[in-house]
Amino acid sequence: MESRSDHSASSRLLAGVVVLLCLCAAASGLSCDFYDDSCPDLDSIVQARVSAAMKAEARMGASLLRLHFHDCFVNGCDGSILLDGPNSEKLALPNLNSVRGYEVIDAIKADLEKACPGVVSCADVVAYAAKYGVLLSGGPDYDVRLGRKDGLVANQSGANNNLPSPFDPISVITQRFKDVGLNTKDVVVLSGAHTIGRSRCVLFSSRLANFSATNSVDPTLDSSLASSLQQLCRGGDGNQTAALDAGSADAFDNHYFQNLLAKKGLLSSDQGLFSSPDGVNATKALVQAYSTNSQRFLCDFGDSMIKMGNIPPLNASAGQIRKKCSAVN
Ligand code: HEM
Ligand SMILES: *[C@@H]1O[C@H](CO)[C@@H](O)[C@H](O)[C@H]1NC(C)=O
Ligand SMILES: *[C@@H]1O[C@H](CO)[C@@H](O)[C@H](O)[C@H]1NC(C)=O
Ligand SMILES: *[C@@H]1O[C@H](CO)[C@@H](O)[C@H](O)[C@H]1NC(C)=O
Ligand SMILES: *[C@@H]1O[C@H](CO)[C@@H](O)[C@H](O)[C@H]1NC(C)=O
Ligand SMILES: *[C@@H]1O[C@H](CO)[C@@H](O)[C@H](O)[C@H]1NC(C)=O
Repeated sequence: MESRSDHSASSRLLAGVVVLLCLCAAASGLSCDFYDDSCPDLDSIVQARVSAAMKAEARMGASLLRLHFHDCFVNGCDGSILLDGPNSEKLALPNLNSVRGYEVIDAIKADLEKACPGVVSCADVVAYAAKYGVLLSGGPDYDVRLGRKDGLVANQSGANNNLPSPFDPISVITQRFKDVGLNTKDVVVLSGAHTIGRSRCVLFSSRLANFSATNSVDPTLDSSLASSLQQLCRGGDGNQTAALDAGSADAFDNHYFQNLLAKKGLLSSDQGLFSSPDGVNATKALVQAYSTNSQRFLCDFGDSMIKMGNIPPLNASAGQIRKKCSAVN
């Protein structure tokens, strides 16, 4: 009897938490049920397309997650990354030959234009595809907030300047997040996105040879992982790819943080969260906490994704529902 009343108390607590999150969303102008009446098939359309793409290639879940991140950090979450043209964000250094999944977004949008023409923004399609990329990789089932408008301009210099680089120290990365309203905890939690996906050799091979005057290999990189990465990257053009989360490449779990404790982070910006001088004070303790508490990581990840998805468009007065994601109407 005691355990039954405990259970109902905890259900009430849980319901309270859910209500609280939805109130937060309403305050930001986005909501969970935005298209419930205007496009009731939205959820099943996104799920079907992301699921099919991930059956063909599991990595696509990761690629869609990253697409949302790279959209949100440049002029806010406004679908600006999808626009073609000479000033396109697609051509910026962090995105060129790197961001993937545009064709999946276009396929979802084409389905939506049949089911409910002119209703769902491309920015929302990106956010929703990211949600399913996470969920279908085994990650948390957070409630994606909807109601974004598509921006009218791409911002190539914004993409070059606002997105964090894997060569940046943790203090610089933290500043880039701060610039868009995200805190140090968000840096650590959202870096946990690297529990899935791949990186090209060109973005970490500086850790593998001629690292410094005293060390040929980055001393914060495990030596057996270093030799297998040297094998992988040797003699190539830098386009070969390695798992960001060695040993658990396609599963959305807290193994990424366990790897950091074992010096098995792939990017300098990953390992730096645990090992770098500026990471030791700011981020190390959280890495340790997530490495031993998977539930806490998955829950916090959903919360930080909602926060990232709330980064407002730079020009809130300009916005439309694009017919085609690659061009303004
Ligand atoms: C903290 C600063 C971050 C840095 C420096 C960074 C850097 C990178 C780099 C260099 C790659 C490999 C790109 C390539 O091979 O061309 C990558 C991949 C990836 N990033 Fe990040 N990232 C950061 C934060 C994030 C965040 C906040 C998310 C999402 C919430 C994210 C999600 C991903 C995913 C899922 C991949 C794999 C994509 C794929 O396999 O297609 N990253 N990141
Ligand atoms: C591009 O991004 C930068 C940095 O966020 C911003 O200052 C600038 O106003 C943006 N330009 C356009 C055209 O949106
Ligand atoms: C490392 O440096 C040496 C000496 O400068 C050079 O010969 C060698 O090619 C470099 N190796 C790599 C992988 O860059
Ligand atoms: C990688 O692939 C791209 C696209 O095919 C190519 O343009 C580039 O030269 C290749 N090499 C490097 C180091 O990026
Ligand atoms: C980290 O914290 C210690 C103790 O407060 C301080 O002495 C040190 O300067 C800090 N290091 C960095 C890189 O901020
Ligand atoms: C915002 O967009 C509107 C409509 O395109 C435009 O007239 C205005 O100049 C833009 N404002 C800024 C600050 O970019």
